[in-house]
Parts: sequence; C-alpha cells; structure tokens
Amino acid sequence: MKPIEWPSGLVLESLAKRHDRKAFRSGETAVDGWLKTNALQNQQKNLSATKAITADGVRVVGYYTIGMTQVDFGDLPESFVRKLRKRLLPAAVLDWLGVDESWQKKGLGERLLGSALLDCRQGSRVFPFVAVILDAISDASRAFYRHFGFDEMPGHPYRLYLPTSQLEAMVEGG
Ligand SMILES: CC(C)(COP(=O)(O)OP(=O)(O)OC[C@H]1O[C@@H](n2cnc3c(N)ncnc32)[C@H](O)[C@@H]1OP(=O)(O)O)[C@@H](O)C(=O)NCCC(=O)NCCS
Repeated sequence: MKPIEWPSGLVLESLAKRHDRKAFRSGETAVDGWLKTNALQNQQKNLSATKAITADGVRVVGYYTIGMTQVDFGDLPESFVRKLRKRLLPAAVLDWLGVDESWQKKGLGERLLGSALLDCRQGSRVFPFVAVILDAISDASRAFYRHFGFDEMPGHPYRLYLPTSQLEAMVEGG
C-alpha cells in the first residue's frame, strides 16, 4: 500500500464535538445517520473509534469507524481456520466508511479505506486478531470492498473479511 497522500487542504483527525456531522451526505442514509447520531457517542463509550476528514476543521467530508469484535470460526472458510481454535476468534471490524457526495469519485474512499487498514494493522501489533471483517450495506458497497481484496464469508454474501496475513502484505508490501 502506498503512503496515503490526502488531497491538498484535507485533514484527517479523530472525530470531535466541534466537527459538523449534520451536513454529511454520502447517498446512504444509514451511513449518514451513524455519523450524525452514533459515532461520537460510541467513541466516548470506548466502543469504536471514528476518524473524520475535513477541509476546514469543521465540516466532515469523509469518515470511517473501526472497532473490535469476535467472529465465529464456522463463518470463515475451512482453509482459513484449519489451524485455529474452534471457537470465537478476535477480529477487527470496519463498521462504517463514507465519503460526502461532493467528494466522491476523487479517490477519497480508497484513501480512507487505506487509512482504516493502516490503523487496523497498527492495532494488530498490540491486540492481535485474525481478520478485518465488515458487513456491506449494499451491492455497491460490497463491490467497493471486493475491489480492494475483501472476500465473502461462505454463505454470507454481504459479510466480508480480509485475513490479517493479507492486511500485513497490503500494508507492508509498499
Ligand atoms: C463507496 C464509497 C466510500 C466510495 O468512495 P469514493 O471516494 O467515491 O471512491 P474512490 O474514488 O476512492 O474509488 C476508489 C476505487 O474504488 C472503485 N469504486 C468506488 N466505488 C465503487 C463501487 N461501488 N464498486 C466498485 N468499485 C468502486 C473506483 O472505481 C476506484 O477504482 P480505480 O482506482 O481502480 O478506478 C462512496 O461511494 C460512499 O461513501 N458511498 C456511500 C456509503 C457507502 O456505501 N459506504 C460503504 C459502506 S459503510
């Protein structure tokens, strides 16, 4: 993965109270609603972490939320879990990611995903997990993540995963 270069003027930082979350429109109401209503509260409760990108330090034009979860070994392909314990396995979860319509199709989604995966990789050095998982909310969102190497869990076409070995290769592979 190449080092992330943000478009000129954009700054990524942890979501804070001063960020304007209400004007954000990604085209998916669930993605907008999470940012508006839940993201900051969940961060304050240590349930998830959200990073927001702004041009002016206030109005959010993109964001992602990551956290930790557990995944049942039976939901992952046999080849992947063969040597793992047969119970719940630790996983990072990419809960949400969105780009404001005014910024879509300019490479911001790819950069935000890259940044989320870098954060996951850094976290995995301290709190190991077997995969990054996510639930795609639409066919378009599933296609976006498939484009970047996420695979479907068997029998769960909208539940996607990226093995940590692949995450490491992506992040450290340059
Ligand atoms: C999905 C989303 C984040 C993409 O953001 P974006 O800034 O428009 O995407 P980018 O410009 O960075 O695109 C990067 C690459 O992904 C591809 N891509 C973007 N959207 C895609 C889609 N729906 N399906 C397949 N590929 C897609 C682009 O073609 C591009 O590939 P290329 O570099 O090989 O040409 C954005 O459309 C969005 O916020 N959608 C609504 C919210 C949502 O669905 N979020 C995801 C689930 S929480």
